Amino acid sequence: MSKSSVTPVTTAGPVIDVAGLCKYYRTYRKPEGLRAAIGGLFHRETTEVRAVDGISFSVEAGEMVGFLGPNGAGKTTTLKMLSGLLHPTGGSVRVLGSLPFRREAAFQRQIALVMGQKNGLWWDLPAMDSFVLNREIYEVPDARFRATLAELVELLELGDALGTPVRQLSLGQRMKCELVAALLHRPRVLFLDEPTIGLDVVVQRRIRDFFRLYNERYETTVLLTSHYMDDVEQLCRRVMVIDHGRLVFDGGLAELVDRHANTKYVTVVFGQPVARGELETVGSVVAYEEGGRRATLSMPRETHSRGAAALLNTYQVDDLDIREPGLEEVIAQVFQHRPPADTTDTPDIPGAPDRPGAADTVDKTAGHEIAAKAGA
Ligand SMILES: Nc1ncnc2c1ncn2[C@@H]1O[C@H](COP(=O)(O)OP(=O)(O)OP(=O)(O)O)[C@@H](O)[C@H]1O
Ligand SMILES: [Mg+2]
Repeated sequence: MSKSSVTPVTTAGPVIDVAGLCKYYRTYRKPEGLRAAIGGLFHRETTEVRAVDGISFSVEAGEMVGFLGPNGAGKTTTLKMLSGLLHPTGGSVRVLGSLPFRREAAFQRQIALVMGQKNGLWWDLPAMDSFVLNREIYEVPDARFRATLAELVELLELGDALGTPVRQLSLGQRMKCELVAALLHRPRVLFLDEPTIGLDVVVQRRIRDFFRLYNERYETTVLLTSHYMDDVEQLCRRVMVIDHGRLVFDGGLAELVDRHANTKYVTVVFGQPVARGELETVGSVVAYEEGGRRATLSMPRETHSRGAAALLNTYQVDDLDIREPGLEEVIAQVFQHRPPADTTDTPDIPGAPDRPGAADTVDKTAGHEIAAKAGA
């Protein structure tokens, strides 16, 4: 047995520990035109995509951390490196004390990666067949397999879907089965890549409740990416925001919203129609419906309660609702205030010693704009 295959899977220190982690993809650019395409057979032009570009962070046992960022920011690439599907270009990564890319059996038995966009079950067979296969792969003792399966089926309200071929299941049922398959071996670390994507709100809520319960019961460490604010808001106290492969924020969700969501939305249902012009004196009207019986006003965060009180005092109000801007908007505001990504760093070479990445300026005591510092 090689030395590397006995790396201990340990709980000492943070469960996830990442420093200066990079993943650069090399892609071939297809030249335009036939002549150039033929030339390209001999001299292929490559470009480098810095999908993950020097990120550093750590996650303690039992934490549920939201991992946010726009499309193409590097979230999936990071999760793939953490779960051992991709070899990093540079930097260091340890999960449960192991180097994930070594893909040791002891390590794989402790983690799971669930991707909402990918199907991990056998398409033509009932989900139960895939579960039995996983039981063999992960060497789960039979009694434990049965107990875990019964528990997961109950928590996820899966009913009798297990005997139906996966291709005949609804998207929600399929996702629940994906979760069962991923959790049958009771992983201690869960990487969730958009687990609720495309699901209706009822199933989304069910799955969200499930994650909360599961985390409380087993103190699973969870890193979750989702484009749904509700998922993150209800599950994660801490969030990390990534953009262009770099961490731009690491801290409390409340702090992220406080700092960047400088507006609130006040939706009012009036007893009688109110003229748009009158409402404009209270806030900026972003929706004006039902002939003035219903309106949504955007107001500065600091003064929104005064604005809401003014509406209540002036008009007959049947209903009033105040909400935060959605995740997309908060994230957009995060990006508005930061300089463009700096790509002047020299790339690491595979196998090179750990590189102190640009994001090493992470101040772990409070949430903050990391890239603003790094790029300053
Ligand atoms: N196999 C690959 N080869 C080349 N480039 C890739 C590959 N996989 C991802 N990329 C690029 O790396 C960058 C990061 O992609 P990644 O999938 O990690 O983003 P993401 O944050 O998960 O985005 P999304 O929110 O859309 O899922 C993107 O520019 C993407 O095009
Ligand atoms: Mg992704």
